[in-house]
Amino acid sequence: MKIFNNILDTVGNTPIVKLNAVVPKGKHSFYAKVEYFNPGQSVKDRIAKYIVEQAEHRGEIKPGGTIIEATSGNTGLGLAIAATIKGYKTIFVMPDKISEEKRAILRAYGAKVIITPTAVEPEDPRSYYSVAKKLVEITPNCFYANQYHNPDNGTAHYLATGPEIWEQMDGKIDVFVAGGGTGGTITGASKFLKEKKKDIKTICVDPIGSILEDLFRHGKALTPAHTYKIEGVGEDFLPSVYDFKMIDDFIKVDDKSAYVMCRDLVAKEGLCVGSSSAMAVVGAIRYSEKLDKPSNIVVVLPDHGRAYMSKAFNDTWMQDNGFLPSPLNARTVGNLIEARKKKVDLVVAKVDNTVIETVNLLKTKGVSQVPVFSDHNLMGIIDESDILLPLAQGKIKPNDPIIHLIKGNIIWVNWDESLQKTSEHLQQGFVALVKDQKANLHIVTKIDLLEYMSQNL
Ligand SMILES: Cc1ncc(COP(=O)(O)O)c(C=O)c1O
Repeated sequence: MKIFNNILDTVGNTPIVKLNAVVPKGKHSFYAKVEYFNPGQSVKDRIAKYIVEQAEHRGEIKPGGTIIEATSGNTGLGLAIAATIKGYKTIFVMPDKISEEKRAILRAYGAKVIITPTAVEPEDPRSYYSVAKKLVEITPNCFYANQYHNPDNGTAHYLATGPEIWEQMDGKIDVFVAGGGTGGTITGASKFLKEKKKDIKTICVDPIGSILEDLFRHGKALTPAHTYKIEGVGEDFLPSVYDFKMIDDFIKVDDKSAYVMCRDLVAKEGLCVGSSSAMAVVGAIRYSEKLDKPSNIVVVLPDHGRAYMSKAFNDTWMQDNGFLPSPLNARTVGNLIEARKKKVDLVVAKVDNTVIETVNLLKTKGVSQVPVFSDHNLMGIIDESDILLPLAQGKIKPNDPIIHLIKGNIIWVNWDESLQKTSEHLQQGFVALVKDQKANLHIVTKIDLLEYMSQNL
């Protein structure tokens, strides 16, 4: 019988698949180690299983204990699977930029999930590393998996990922490419591969915004870390799991190239993978351009694309971030106002107008909403429905002042702001106000945008 004892035993032995359509034809061959074949659909199942086994072996985790981890999602899932099979509880701390799908699956496994802000320094008490550390201090009988500083992370890849690649490629590998997060994959697998063949080149792919490449080349960050959209890779500090001696070069990749490649991988190779996988493929292709000799290049694809349905595989998200072309990106608010058929003088109400005066204003000017000013200060906006409902419910009387009905959902936009950006504001329920070069005020509502799109796109 070829039966696994439990789901945890299926971790590892993922296939290597040749890339055919997204890579340049001819000189080099590109092979993808597809880690979504793991039971939690990511490479992190490997380290989760090994870290827990080693902790048990050393007596660092006791029956009924709680596993705590700071995770961008995948390690959490790997740990949740291990914890389920072995009877532990789990608490995970995740940065807020991580997709909702990744949080939901952890909760499905019964984990407690704590969300922390992304845009804070690692030392900040609100950072996900700090919150995880604090939890470890206060939770009895807990074990901190600590993937960033736990040497077992790299060892898991040294013992399994590296040997698998070596065997699957029959030793015919020249370049090993992986994204760097905690550094476990790149450090551990590279160590094994270099022991087998010392001139294998190991290339770490790093998102723009991460400081890892700077640390590798200069020992310090020349450009401060900033946020980026690729998930699971790149850091704003150096995890001690890294051994830079195992890395020969770094390649930087921007968000847009990675997310566009996500779409290409699914459409042309049938590989539905996450943004860090796509980033690694872009990095592998760029690195290959530097190579004279025909080479066999193996690139690690860390996880499945299912966790990115609301991002990489959502057209609106892709367009909003400028990763997919959108006709609205090329047009500005100014274009819309200049294209308006009839020149509209902005109708405004004053803050001390009564309800009936405002209704008359809406009626006589044929508009459905008006900005409300107090002298020259914009107080907000009022539309028909803001008046209709409270009037019908008897909550206001026709001679009451309108001040209490004003809504604040107005946003000032620039004349040359892209209509894509403006459409995001409008979809969030805002009404846009803009001043032209002569300081005349204009209002842009959803219906204005619809009218513009139907006539001009
Ligand atoms: C989606 C994804 N890709 C890549 C990585 C990077 O792998 P490593 O941490 O082994 O460097 C991670 C790590 O969290 C990840 O979650």
